[in-house]
Amino acid sequence: MIGLEVKKQMEKAGEYPDVLIGCCGGGSNFAGFAFPFLADKLAGKKKNLEFIGVEPENCASLCRGKYAYDFGDSGKQTPLLKMKTLGCDFVPPPIHAGGLRYHGIAPSLAFLHHGGLMKAKSYSQLEVFKAAIDFSRTEGIIPAPETAHAVKAAIDEALKAKKEGRKKVIVFNFSGHGLLDLKGYDDYLYQRLK
Ligand SMILES: Cc1ncc(COP(=O)(O)O)c(C=O)c1O
Repeated sequence: MIGLEVKKQMEKAGEYPDVLIGCCGGGSNFAGFAFPFLADKLAGKKKNLEFIGVEPENCASLCRGKYAYDFGDSGKQTPLLKMKTLGCDFVPPPIHAGGLRYHGIAPSLAFLHHGGLMKAKSYSQLEVFKAAIDFSRTEGIIPAPETAHAVKAAIDEALKAKKEGRKKVIVFNFSGHGLLDLKGYDDYLYQRLK
């Protein structure tokens, strides 16, 4: 649904994305956002359309996971699923982006990443909060720490395009506000985060 809405919004703006960015925990917000556009890419409507999933550095299942069958949960109750996984017993260090602390990724996204149809990036918590603060100060909206991963990647894409002197339509999914995560912002601003 999100991706279908984004398509309508882009139509109204008279634009079409060059790159779509979303944070990845289990993969649902990214898939909902990106799949309608992926259909266009696969149909050959926009062959160079890029997709970037963004993860925390210390729980980067797409970037560093193995493409293998694994359980979806630490209790090993699910069927085995082919995914990118850090191992169902993996316990990531605590970070404020708790929604991205998942050992694996949805089989659909693992398949796309494995097949080279989407890229993945990872960032440290400090980089992510710096981007979130810059975004809040310029846009007046406080992103959730999870969402701030996508914000950071969008800022990096924009700076890269600026350096290369290229116009690029960069669209990211704002998956949630950060009003329940102000403690994370407080920790960042008072330099309690590592
Ligand atoms: C604001 C926000 N964004 C993103 C996610 C990531 O989840 P998923 O990758 O399953 O969409 C979460 C999970 O809790 C979240 O709270």
